[in-house]
Amino acid sequence: MRYLIAMRPDTEKESKKLNYLNDTFGVEQETMRKVREHSVANNREGMQVSPYEGQLLKSLVVWTKSQKILELGTLFGYSAMWMASGLGEGGQICTVEKDSSRFADSQRFFAESPWASQIVGLQGDFEELRAELEAKAPFDLLFIDANKAAYYRALLWGEGLLKKGGFVIADNTFLFGGVYGEKISDRWSPSVIENMKKLNARLADQNLYQGSMLPTSEGLLVAQKLF
Ligand SMILES: C[S@@+](CC[C@H](N)C(=O)[O-])C[C@H]1O[C@@H](n2cnc3c(N)ncnc32)[C@H](O)[C@@H]1O
Repeated sequence: MRYLIAMRPDTEKESKKLNYLNDTFGVEQETMRKVREHSVANNREGMQVSPYEGQLLKSLVVWTKSQKILELGTLFGYSAMWMASGLGEGGQICTVEKDSSRFADSQRFFAESPWASQIVGLQGDFEELRAELEAKAPFDLLFIDANKAAYYRALLWGEGLLKKGGFVIADNTFLFGGVYGEKISDRWSPSVIENMKKLNARLADQNLYQGSMLPTSEGLLVAQKLF
């Protein structure tokens, strides 16, 4: 299967490049492939990370030696599985999904994956599950990939659950071009754009974080917490 839906490439050269990247640095384990097929069938592939971004997440888990991860926004479990595949023995990822049907699908996929004992799915709005998540802290890595309007709130709250030296990863930090002035759909109000810019500015503040935004199609911000 090719990957054109997720990538929304602008040019033929760009799509060839992304296919090459996914084919070489995004080779999926069997359950991951099933999840992506499920996403394609449900017209949701564009919502999840692409295969090469999945492998990048896995690499970041390995490089940072993260053993306790919190993910906000599960969808069907694709990124959670990629991150789980980088955990060492005894490592765990807790992932939160608000939508009950998506949550149920992810649970089914987790159960049949090799990481069933390492992925804990929670159903609900992460903002309503704060107490439960705070009880699981500290985390080594926080992956923010839920509703864009709540990204900045997620950062201000979630960074408090990270140990010093832990990592924040946030996807879609270009907000589909909105943060650098592209005219984007009415779906993203000026306040959502402002909040994404505030998140980017905070993670770019070198008094607080050592971070970089990787220029993936949608922007993937990776930052180490210094406080
Ligand atoms: C971009 S998708 C996640 C994709 C997933 N991380 C992946 O790459 O495979 C965002 C998901 O977050 C969920 N979501 C949105 N707001 C949420 C919230 N406040 N709490 C928990 N989940 C939320 C949505 O229902 C959606 O399934």
